[in-house]
Amino acid sequence: MRLEDAKKDHYRKLAKEQGYRSRSAFKLIELNKKYSLIKSNDSILDFGAAPGGWMQVASKLVMPKGKVIGVDLLPIKPIGENVTIFQGDIRDEEVVNKILNEVKGKVNVILSDMAPNISGIWKIDHNNQIDLTMLIIDRFPDLLEKNGRCLLKAFDGPMLNTLEKELKKNFTNVKLIKPKVSRNASSELYIACRGFR
Ligand SMILES: C[S@@+](CC[C@H](N)C(=O)[O-])C[C@H]1O[C@@H](n2cnc3c(N)ncnc32)[C@H](O)[C@@H]1O
Repeated sequence: MRLEDAKKDHYRKLAKEQGYRSRSAFKLIELNKKYSLIKSNDSILDFGAAPGGWMQVASKLVMPKGKVIGVDLLPIKPIGENVTIFQGDIRDEEVVNKILNEVKGKVNVILSDMAPNISGIWKIDHNNQIDLTMLIIDRFPDLLEKNGRCLLKAFDGPMLNTLEKELKKNFTNVKLIKPKVSRNASSELYIACRGFR
């Protein structure tokens, strides 16, 4: 077995043992430890949340009074009392309005692990993924409170620079990282930001 497949397998098993719905849960655990993004009583908005691994992690971290709202194209099984789930496409204005209604004000943290359907053509996948992420960034003023934090997935490629520049305009602290759980060969990166201006 290739080292990358062995690593994937290891985290898949670990997720099963610990009751997480995806091995992605360990990415959020690792990155949150490193950057202290989620705190007790925070309100969290999670884009591209299915099957719910990140929401499982976040819903525990925000206890006792925080809440998590998640949205995905795919259905998500209920997680807990402090978690609200929406099914829909974030490119759809109606879905965004539903989220804005549910948020009632602004959230402390925005998460996005969104990834489009993969075509296998790197440039197309990169462009589509960054477009989705930019869509969320455009909504930050309506959704994220001052001094808020975010963690965003981004596929590496030529548009990453533009995305990073945009985030640096909006946050006092911006860090690009590749978590241990991500496969080495994948172009997947994460951007952790703090201090929304
Ligand atoms: C890598 S998965 C997320 C895994 C999740 N963080 C977890 O821990 O379980 C990426 C998700 O992005 C969702 N997605 C892609 N495009 C979307 C869109 N336009 N609107 C909402 N969700 C989208 C996909 O349906 C997919 O479930």
